[in-house]
Amino acid sequence: NQRKDLEENAKDQQLEQFRVDNDGTKMTTNQGLKVSNDEDSLKAGVRGPTIMEDFHLREKITHFDHERIPERVVHARGFAAHGEFELYESMKEYTKARFLQEPGKKTPVFVRFSTVVGSLGSMDTARDVRGFATKFYTDEGNYDLVGNNIPVFFIQDAIKFPDLIHAVKPEPHNDMPQAASAHDTFWDFVANNQEIAHMVMWVMSDRAIPRSFRMMEGFGVHAFRFVNEKGKSRFVKFHWKPVLGVHSLVWDEAQIIGGKDSDFQRRDLWEAIEIGDYPEFELGVQMLEPEDEFKFDFDILDATKLWPEEIVPVKKIGKMTLNRNVDNVFAETEQVAFHPGNVVPGIDFTNDPLLQGRLFSYLDTQLIRLGGPNFAEIPINRPVCPIHNNQRNGFSRQAINLGRVSYHKNSLANNTPSPATAKEGGYVHYEEKVEGRITRARSKSFDDHFSQARLFWNSMSPPEKQHIIEAFSFEVGKVKSKSVRQQVVNMFVRVDKAMATTIADNVGVNRPTGEQINVTASSPALSQANTIKVPQ
Ligand code: HEM
Repeated sequence: NQRKDLEENAKDQQLEQFRVDNDGTKMTTNQGLKVSNDEDSLKAGVRGPTIMEDFHLREKITHFDHERIPERVVHARGFAAHGEFELYESMKEYTKARFLQEPGKKTPVFVRFSTVVGSLGSMDTARDVRGFATKFYTDEGNYDLVGNNIPVFFIQDAIKFPDLIHAVKPEPHNDMPQAASAHDTFWDFVANNQEIAHMVMWVMSDRAIPRSFRMMEGFGVHAFRFVNEKGKSRFVKFHWKPVLGVHSLVWDEAQIIGGKDSDFQRRDLWEAIEIGDYPEFELGVQMLEPEDEFKFDFDILDATKLWPEEIVPVKKIGKMTLNRNVDNVFAETEQVAFHPGNVVPGIDFTNDPLLQGRLFSYLDTQLIRLGGPNFAEIPINRPVCPIHNNQRNGFSRQAINLGRVSYHKNSLANNTPSPATAKEGGYVHYEEKVEGRITRARSKSFDDHFSQARLFWNSMSPPEKQHIIEAFSFEVGKVKSKSVRQQVVNMFVRVDKAMATTIADNVGVNRPTGEQINVTASSPALSQANTIKVPQ
């Protein structure tokens, strides 16, 4: 009925041809042969052995045997919905992206919310980061904004991502704990990779147990680029602001609800959409002029830092409404393939070393998860604009490419790239000037791991601070190694001495002897009030 109520958008129309309705139909084999009996296998005598000739049995069982695909290596558990994005005001001055030009322009979207650590069957209310991945089906191709509900990240360089995930996933010798960071390897990683400090403060806060997917923010995290028609570039960070505001569970609620209904958040999203109470999120952008790149006492390319909203305000440019549940979770939610590298003209990358690694990782993992190079042909992944190139063949190819020519350049077919003009719209990468020697070193500008962590702590209300202390005490309290517990409190004394001292008492280790950092000394631009505007 939702579909009938809505004016069908371009993506809905495209999906229509793939919908299969079994209602009131006659059963057939995959070859279209009508079957006369779907309950008894073909046997030699009613009590005899099944015979090889039974193509129906073999087809049915074989298909069943191959029903599973690997779950995502991270963000395995997710839930998704369709919707549309409507632009408030033209962003022409900043970007040539066509879906951001005309106020009122509507673009179909598909959004998948997820937890990061838990496996496909884990519980929704776990303390964890939430993924917030949006696919915009624009007239110029798919644009994916693959974000999280927390504005910063655990690490600064993608080369450490496998280490982070190995540390936080269940320990390999006993596969425990499922979907929780309350264990030795995670906290050992924390204490020995201290760029994680700011993110851990967020993860120990109420932000890591959202009440609903409808009541949490989304962040692109990295600095991206907007590029306008004239070729001028600005740095940009993307935000989703929930119209219902940000609301969290408290830990006891999360545990009780999770025990009684492990599907709590997917059910909430599903039911809200079913009754027409459509979730809404406003898209915000923070933009920085290129000449301001080095104006701050943090590096704007460092994904463990946010851009304080009091310094770089968030401009709201449009609204997304999720108005249709999926028809089939496997076909859509499981088979969707997001990739931060899916961009459109007017949106480009920066040298953030975490983003650069992500640009490799998603396509690579999807090649195995979705069974080969043709997953862009899966209905949910198809752009709504035409696709033409010389890629051919591979497992499960759908397109029946006509003609002899599958190479470039040629004189036998008239298929060419598009010039990068406004009319033709060919993508051209921003011509950023780079210089330097090839090195594995990290920029010194990425070294301050604690200023924003402390500002975050300072900005919490007393109950929020209490919740953070309780979360640390619960999570670190589960760590068996006393040395790791001690290392953790010795690290977090740099964020706040009283906080770390209380945690030390709660987890049975010595009170830390170190001192909290002085934000004023290390980070003056941020510290006027010694607090930071935590995105709301
Ligand atoms: C999946 C966000 C960093 C590798 C995802 C998903 C989200 C996400 C939302 C789920 C996509 C879906 O729902 O299908 C982020 C954010 C990051 C980050 C915001 C940092 C700011 C990284 C890094 C890597 C990585 C550094 C690797 C170098 C992956 C992989 C998947 C994934 C392999 C599974 C994709 C799939 O199977 O479709 N990420 N991620 N992520 N992420 Fe990230």
